[in-house]
Amino acid sequence: MNIVWHHESVTKAERRQRNHHHSCVLWFTGLSGSGKSTLANAVAKELFQRGIQNYVLDGDNIRHGLNSDLGFSPEDRTENIRRIGEVAKLFVDSGQIVLTAFISPFRQDRELVRQKLEQDEFIEIYVRCPLEQCEKRDPKGLYKKARNGEIREFTGIDSPYEEPLSPELIVETDRYSIEECTEQIISYLQKQNFIKGV
Ligand SMILES: Nc1ncnc2c1ncn2[C@@H]1O[C@H](COP(=O)(O)OP(=O)(O)OP(=O)(O)O)[C@@H](O)[C@H]1O
Ligand SMILES: [Mg+2]
Repeated sequence: MNIVWHHESVTKAERRQRNHHHSCVLWFTGLSGSGKSTLANAVAKELFQRGIQNYVLDGDNIRHGLNSDLGFSPEDRTENIRRIGEVAKLFVDSGQIVLTAFISPFRQDRELVRQKLEQDEFIEIYVRCPLEQCEKRDPKGLYKKARNGEIREFTGIDSPYEEPLSPELIVETDRYSIEECTEQIISYLQKQNFIKGV
């Protein structure tokens, strides 16, 4: 292949130094309706207010553009996550905290993303909420459609969700409020010295 890697003129370390914070992926995983998008956006807002460079990659939005050619078969879900992982890595290189909100139901797919990054760059956040509660929330009406058979291969109904075995963080959205879960994540980032306290 006639493709040669071109070395960067500004390094990741230099970008982090300029930003005064670490760069990493906050990988939210969990059932549909568990609260990934809600929390990723709440955390992003909090980080933004503190002057921390960040960006949210959200499932539906990415599927409109970058991954509009992919469906929901296991192969397509895997490719979906692989591409997101590559994009997330670019954001980490750019010195930002990137928050990803994808169901990402397969353990192996998440592990592949983890392996692409350095040890302190992949923070897996399990957004845990019982299926019954997610179904009760049903913010997009998707569970109803899945139960009616209008949507096939829906995670939790007729497609599996593989829980993380050792995530960096677990947020329980059926027990704690959006504010409390957000605070839990911000506190973690401070404790790890990824961001400064206020
Ligand atoms: N502690 C909490 N954290 C997050 N969301 C909560 C919490 N408590 C209640 N909710 C509600 O749960 C719903 C979560 O919906 P959201 O769209 O964030 O889920 P999602 O995980 O992104 O689903 P999908 O995979 O379909 O995109 C929202 O209506 C939100 O207001
Ligand atoms: Mg979402």
